[in-house]
Amino acid sequence: MLSEKLQAIHKEAVAAFNAAKDSKDLYELKVKYLGKQGPLAGLMREMAGLSKEEKPLFGKLVNEVKQGLEDHYSQREAALAQAELNQKIATEALDLSLPGPVRARGARHPIQKVINEVVEILSRIGYSVRTGPMIEKDWYNFEALNIPADHPARDMQDTFYIDESHVLRTHTSPIQIRTMESEKPPLRILAPGSVFRCDSDVSHSPNFHQIEGLLIDRKVSMADLKGTIAYFVKEYFGPEIKIRFRPSFFPFTEPSAEVDCSCPICKGKGCRMCKHSGWIEIGGSGLVNPKVLAHCKLNPDEWQGFAFGFGMERMAIIKYGIEDIRLFAENDLRFLRQFEA
Ligand code: PHE
Repeated sequence: MLSEKLQAIHKEAVAAFNAAKDSKDLYELKVKYLGKQGPLAGLMREMAGLSKEEKPLFGKLVNEVKQGLEDHYSQREAALAQAELNQKIATEALDLSLPGPVRARGARHPIQKVINEVVEILSRIGYSVRTGPMIEKDWYNFEALNIPADHPARDMQDTFYIDESHVLRTHTSPIQIRTMESEKPPLRILAPGSVFRCDSDVSHSPNFHQIEGLLIDRKVSMADLKGTIAYFVKEYFGPEIKIRFRPSFFPFTEPSAEVDCSCPICKGKGCRMCKHSGWIEIGGSGLVNPKVLAHCKLNPDEWQGFAFGFGMERMAIIKYGIEDIRLFAENDLRFLRQFEA
């Protein structure tokens, strides 16, 4: 009787497992036939009525059927899982020929390109980059650079004041001071950065960029300065470019000179870019004033140096033939795209 029931349960369960359409279905059937509430568990309970001799024999039989069903379940489960995976692979196939999302590509700003190139050229002769804050203390922007309180550069018309003792830096020269204060000479540094002056027209922007150079060593002369700038200008603009030093004045350099290069557009013949002079000014330079060294606690009898400060927009204008300085800050893509790649 019981063994017939067992046979029937076995047959029914095998048929049910075979008919399961997916692994979820199959799992439910496993619970149904092999679980605690299932028919096999029921048979075990019915065994209570059997004789002492029959009990172990029948128990063994039930266990065999149970084991057989479990094995069958595992086989079916593996087969269904494989079938499901195959199905997934077939239906979710990637179409690799579809074009991907198009990302707008960025490009370097022309000013950044100039900075990178200047840094690259001067790093070949030992210069490395330093930076400083755009909101600068009066001391660093003026006082330590030997720019006295009554100097015209301090006029509110030229300088953006934050408060009595802070300004938006009007040049990158404060980074000279910060470097000399915090590092031991000899020094060869470059300081590119944004600077601010109350001024705005085709050739002046209230926010423009400079790159400062500073060299401090034991014996430094104007010849070293001129040689360095000549090397730089030829590397940057090309070997045919000539340079010219014009005597000038800066409170923080002595002697001081303005640096002109022969106009790369007309090759010195005279054009609109160079206002028909054949020369274009790129910045100021000079030997570091001993007063500035002393402010940085360097002994002027032991240390000397030169410094230069070039206008980045100026250099980009000359290199790329751009005529309006305001274009650099407008972010007009038609302008910027011309500097891609
Ligand atoms: N800081 C000066 C300016 O902004 C330029 C300069 C730098 C001149 C270094 C001499 C030496 O005009």
